[in-house]
Parts: sequence; structure tokens; C-alpha cells
Amino acid sequence: MDKSAKIEFNGSSYTFPVITGSENEEAIDIKNLRSEMGLITYDPGYKNTGHCISSITYLDGENGILRYRGYSVEELCEKKSFLEVTYLLIFGDLPSQNQLEKFQNDIREETLVDEDLKQIFKSFPKSAHPMGVLSSLTSALIAFNPQNETKISMTDKEGVTADDKMYLSTVRLLAKFPIMSSWTLRKIKGLPLNYSNNNLSYTENIAYMMFAKPNQEYVQNDVIVNALNTLLILHADHEQNCSTSTVRIVGSSYAGLYASISAGISALWGRLHGGANQAVIEMLELIKNDNSDIDKYLNKAKDKSDPFRLMGFGHRVYKNFDPRAKIIKKAADQVLNDLGIDDPILDIAKSIEEKALTDEYFIEKKLYPNVDFYSGIIYRALGIPSDMFTVMFALGRIPGWIAQWKEMRDSNNPIGRPRQIYNGPTHRKISS
Ligand code: CMC
Repeated sequence: MDKSAKIEFNGSSYTFPVITGSENEEAIDIKNLRSEMGLITYDPGYKNTGHCISSITYLDGENGILRYRGYSVEELCEKKSFLEVTYLLIFGDLPSQNQLEKFQNDIREETLVDEDLKQIFKSFPKSAHPMGVLSSLTSALIAFNPQNETKISMTDKEGVTADDKMYLSTVRLLAKFPIMSSWTLRKIKGLPLNYSNNNLSYTENIAYMMFAKPNQEYVQNDVIVNALNTLLILHADHEQNCSTSTVRIVGSSYAGLYASISAGISALWGRLHGGANQAVIEMLELIKNDNSDIDKYLNKAKDKSDPFRLMGFGHRVYKNFDPRAKIIKKAADQVLNDLGIDDPILDIAKSIEEKALTDEYFIEKKLYPNVDFYSGIIYRALGIPSDMFTVMFALGRIPGWIAQWKEMRDSNNPIGRPRQIYNGPTHRKISS
């Protein structure tokens, strides 16, 4: 029997359908709430608002489950490459060997970068934050792909044509974003800009582009490649969140893919979202330099009059544990061990976790380490500066944003346009 929910207001009762997802999550469909009842809902931060129906990622925050297209992230990290996961997210299934090779080759075809784009990149001052640079460069890519960007914006009902345009825009972005990210890193490190090595796999090439030194033979380090693969897969999608919903909502106005993703990069930048990975390392450094006084900072985090928060802790949806954090914590131990690095901030991070997990405040509020708590420690071990951490998150999230944008466009949802409750002055006249 179809379920429904009854809402009573002003002495009248109205019935609304209840939608059930494939994992039995339920939502009241209030599409007609305003037309039927003259009411809107008020939900700051969209804590209870379903923004779309999606078949990409399933997340069960109570039980710490995260699956892409039905596959658990644990199994994907163990058995698949980031490029395979990218294909899975965007096209819905894991690729066959032939599909993967074609996808990889199509991306390789697009690894050349226009010299004008390089000039734009070079004109950023060294002090520019990498996330600002990447957001701008992604937006600038539109100028080098104008036909395609406007076509996928405007002709998505043309079937094959729109699919082809979408595919080309997808492989272009997947080819160029790692190059732009690597260049940003190389600029910070004072290394000359390089180009893709198309003999390497997707993730190997990212490592090559980021870490190859001039006048030195590049020797691949599998520890680094494997760590990158795990981190990129774990960041690849996370259903609705500040940046992904931004990508969807910007795209819902028929802005193009790159314009939407550029906005997503900006949304990710903030410290409460992807920017937390940089903030965690800065916090751990601060604690280390303050005699490793963990208790002092736990108390500050608990003090409502103090704006300090324990960065890398807490999550809107995970209320038990973040499955990504579990994998990353293990990987951090492994990477530091394999690379022979002894980083005192890993011990500080572990002590914070241990103490917080037995502290009444954190238990009561269900605050656990999230994906950003240990990821920065791995990036640091790989020689990536903290300003670049959120770029690494974005690099992983590109496939998720593309998949979500494509799904939003295919579903023909109306333009995103929330309402508000106005509480400013009522009508008044200018007195003179
Ligand atoms: N340290 C101390 N107290 C916290 C923390 C924290 N990290 N996180 C939440 N709280 C408290 C918060 O003060 C509030 O207390 P009260 O109910 O007394 O007002 C309660 O827990 C609920 O927090 P909230 O801010 O209302 O929850 P939210 O769902 O709006 O925010 C969050 C989620 C992730 C923004 C928040 O937990 C936070 O600020 N964490 C630190 C930043 C961080 O690590 N962000 C990365 C998130 S994971 C990466 C991603 O996918 O974005």
C-alpha cells in the first residue's frame, strides 16, 4: 500500500504522498504543499530537506555505510582504481576492460593544455590560495570549450548530440583538472610546469605530474600511488552536501558543467566542508606548539563561548562513525610506516581521537573523526603543502560532481529556487 503523511493546519487536514527509496528511506513529498496549504517549510541548513532523487551514492549515517552505485567504498578501495570508480559514478556501472581503455585513451587525447590557459595560470600571484586558482581556472576552461559548454547547457533534450557533448566535456575536465592541480602544487614548490605522461595510468600520472623533479629520472613510488588511489576514491562522491548541491543548483539554471563545478570548488573551500583538511593540520600544529596540551583544546572545543571547534570532528550525517575516516586512519599508519616518516602530529591526532571518544560532550553530540581528520597527515607525508589539501579533495570529487550534474540535467528537475520567510520592515514610505 502506498504510504502517505497527513498534515493538519488551521483546522484542515491535507495528505501528502511518501516516497520510499531503494534502501527504504522515506520522505514526505511536499511538492504541492504551498499550492494546497499556503505553507512553505523552514529548514535552515537543509537538515531535513531531500533535494533530489538520486541513484549515485547511498549513505547511511547511523550505520557508517557509504556505497557508490551499490558498491561499498571499502571494497572499491581494495579492488578498483580511481579511474574505474570515476567511470562507475558517471556511467552507472564498473567498466569492462575495453570500456576502461577507451575512457583512459579519450582522457589522454585531451591532456594538452592551451598556452593561453597556461598564461592565465601564470598570472596568478604566488600568494593566491590554490582553491581560488582552481575555481578560476575551471571557470576559464569554458572559454576554451565554449561550443560544448553552451551546447550541453541548452540542448540536453537532443539525445545523442547532448550525450556526445557531455562525454567530451567530461573527458576534457578529467584530463585537465589534474594538470591544473599539479601545476598549482609545482608553482608553490618552485618546480617547472610539466605535462602528462600518457604511458601512465590515471592515478600514476597524477603522482608523476605532482612529484617529478627536473633533471632527475622519475621513479614511481607505489606507496604514494596506492595512497592517492585510496584517498581519491574515498573523496569521489558523498551524495548531497554543500559543494555537490551547489553544483546541482547552479546547473539547474542551465549554467554549463564547468561553471557549475567552479562554483562547487568554491563551496568546498570553506573550513566546515573540504577546507577542514587544511584546518586540521593547522590545528594539530597549533596544539603541538602549545606543549601538546590536548586537554586545553578539547576544553576549548566544548566551551560554547569559545569559537574554537575540533576540526575534522563531527558530521551532518554520520552519527556513529565515518567509514572514510576508518580507512584513512589505517592508510595513514601504513603510509608513514612505508615511507619511514615519524610525524609527531599523527600521535597527537590519535590521542585527540582517543580522548574525545570517551568524553561525555563528544559522545552525547555523536562527534567522531571525519574524512578530513587523518587525510592531511597522509598528504603531508607525501610532501603536499597544507594549502593544497583541499585541492586534493576537489581532485577526488570531480567525478562525483560530474555524475551529479549529469543526473540533475537528465532528470529535468526545475530550477533550484528556495523560498524564505521575510521578517524585515513591512511597507513604509520615504518620508521626504
Ligand atoms: N567541535 C566541537 N563541537 C562541535 C563540533 C566540533 N568539531 N562539531 C559539532 N559540534 C557541536 C556543535 O557546537 C553543536 O552543539 P550544540 O548542539 O550544543 O549547539 C552540535 O555539535 C551539532 O553541531 P552542528 O554544527 O549543529 O552540526 P552540523 O551538522 O550543522 O555541522 C559540521 C556539521 C561538520 C559542520 C560540524 O560538525 C563541524 O563544524 N565540524 C568541524 C569542521 C569539519 O571537520 N568539517 C568537515 C566535515 S567532513 C568533510 C565534508 O564532507 O565536508
